[in-house]
Amino acid sequence: MTVGEKPLSRIVVLISGSGSNLQSFIEASKEGNIDGQIMAVISNRPGVKGLERASNVGIPSIVVDHRAFASRQEFDRYLAEVIQGFTPDLVVLAGFMRILTTDFVNQFVGKLINIHPSLLPAYPGLNTHQRAIEAGDSVAGATVHFVTPELDGGPAILQVEVPILSTDTPTQLAARVLVEEHKIYPLVAQWYCQGRIVMDKGIVFHNGVEVGKSGLLFSNESEH
Ligand code: GAR
Repeated sequence: MTVGEKPLSRIVVLISGSGSNLQSFIEASKEGNIDGQIMAVISNRPGVKGLERASNVGIPSIVVDHRAFASRQEFDRYLAEVIQGFTPDLVVLAGFMRILTTDFVNQFVGKLINIHPSLLPAYPGLNTHQRAIEAGDSVAGATVHFVTPELDGGPAILQVEVPILSTDTPTQLAARVLVEEHKIYPLVAQWYCQGRIVMDKGIVFHNGVEVGKSGLLFSNESEH
């Protein structure tokens, strides 16, 4: 399929669970807001909702169960092979909850992106919302970033801020952050597909202009 003269970018999405971010990609492509086609959805866990979301719309869904492999290296090697089979232009981690080896990341560097539910570099790793609330922060958020071998340490592309309310539980905050994740992740994918976002030697450029260390800041009002 093509948009004008430019072929649609080939996207592979990796998930481990609910896949609500995947759903935001599915909606965005349906509405013509991503110049890309999701070629496959791969989950390291069987039976998760995200797989159902993919097959509901006819996207090939594949399980590569990490428990079937003797080591992280073997899992990553096989996973990389499956992904390469789709010759992707973009690999999207959407709630993919496995740490990836350096060898894996290096195969896809520059076309591998992740969304993390915090304002990185704050709170890499797990339980981000609980940690932000316990620290007494007034703002939480999410970050889309290029993936490098350092866990949640790759250069940021776009962040969105979400106020923390005094009554917030981690679950309530997570739900409000998720709504914003669904706005910024397909948007970054579209920028990528349009060639408007690139990483060169670890530096992110948006429309040819270097973005700051914490990436661009999303606002509902701004033009994208
Ligand atoms: C999202 O909040 C995403 O930011 C987070 O997992 C959730 C997945 O939700 N990712 C990470 O924590 C990665 N370290 P989803 O499966 O509904 O898209």
